[in-house]
Amino acid sequence: MNVLVVGSGGREHALAWKLSESPKVDKVYIAPGNSGCALVGECVDMDTGNLRNMVRWAREHDIGLVLPGSEVYYVDGIVDAFKEADIPIFGPTKAAAELEGSKAFAKNLMRRHGIPTADFAEFEQFEPAMRYIDSRPEGPVVVKADGLCAGKGVIVCENRDEAKAAVRRIMGDGEFGSAGYRVVIEEFLRGQEVTILALTDGKTIAPLASSQDHKAAFDGDTGPNTGGMGAYSPAPILTDAVMDEVVERILVPTVHGMNEEGRRFRGLLYAGLMLTGGGPKVLEYNVRFGDPETQPVLMRLKSDFFDLIDATVRGKLADQTIEWHPDPAVCVVLASGGYPGPYEKGKVVYGLDNAARRPNTMVFHAGAKLNHQKQVVTDGGRVFGVTATGRDIAAAIKSAYAAVGDISFEGMRYRTDIGKKAL
Ligand code: AMP
Ligand code: GLY
Repeated sequence: MNVLVVGSGGREHALAWKLSESPKVDKVYIAPGNSGCALVGECVDMDTGNLRNMVRWAREHDIGLVLPGSEVYYVDGIVDAFKEADIPIFGPTKAAAELEGSKAFAKNLMRRHGIPTADFAEFEQFEPAMRYIDSRPEGPVVVKADGLCAGKGVIVCENRDEAKAAVRRIMGDGEFGSAGYRVVIEEFLRGQEVTILALTDGKTIAPLASSQDHKAAFDGDTGPNTGGMGAYSPAPILTDAVMDEVVERILVPTVHGMNEEGRRFRGLLYAGLMLTGGGPKVLEYNVRFGDPETQPVLMRLKSDFFDLIDATVRGKLADQTIEWHPDPAVCVVLASGGYPGPYEKGKVVYGLDNAARRPNTMVFHAGAKLNHQKQVVTDGGRVFGVTATGRDIAAAIKSAYAAVGDISFEGMRYRTDIGKKAL
């Protein structure tokens, strides 16, 4: 079967790589892909915003399964468009993707179904939001733009003044465009964060191995939030007992709640959790594979990834069992100098061949492309996700950083403490 992965990040390289390993997959196309995707399949230069063209292209190329990466596609209705054309596609419909597309929708769903999350209030007007902040006890609070902001619409505030400034940025200055039409102001939660990725066909829920992201730009979780500077899997803090609680109190009621509300969720449910003193609570839902969590999680997957994706699409997930390599995996993101602020592109990358020769190591390309001389050059903020497995987390960290040491480009920057929390 021919499959089409839609997107161009490190996650998409990992998804395409793992699909390409299945004996059932003849050819993987990636639209538009990147220099790494080109190593495992064929990149297709097309406008992924034009759903009608994509459907036509997929028909012409005998595509039997489509796997979009980013939430932007789901929220735009890519699943609805391919379903209408009778081409099997993985993921939630536009109505179900609202779970990530609107934070207020997600928070209200959790409230209606008793799913543990931070207490919150939502506002469409500036003055009531300001009065609400004044009415709260002084202390930390989190202000979120309602819509999609590529992970940048969440502002953690130390006090009332910062919270008011955050509301001003979102609603007054329009820094996040139409995503800031509404704000959610929520209770600040303390604890350790973990990510649970779960496949679901709307009936069966199959959690994947746990993972932990590193969102802050600099070592010691300092600096601004980024799309993710590294990740590891599994997250040892997520014990079996906590996982049972997550399934029972969070994943099951979320999937059932969506069903009950006529928005059947199919695809990958990403639960970003805070493990608080009062048990696990939802920080956010995403409706697609996490980036960079997918990179270390898929490095550990023993089962046929195509089978899992295909079964999810066909509503047959109950027939699948998922097997994992016990060795942990660590992914270190190599970023462009300046990221998450402004950065330069087009820097030539050296040393990828040496890194690729290392055992149990994968260099997933993200913001990287081939230039006219067929050299790999930087093309984004997060450029590579250098991922390695090891017999324990310390060994995986060592191997990942050894491969990082092979690679260089002008301005290259990375965190030196990925995985430390798991030691
Ligand atoms: P989100 O995009 O919603 O995951 O938020 C980005 C980051 O902000 C999270 O990974 C947390 O570190 C932090 N965050 C979000 N909501 C809260 C909260 N209610 N309490 C504490 N930290 C939060
Ligand atoms: N790693 C965070 C995300 O995928 O949203």
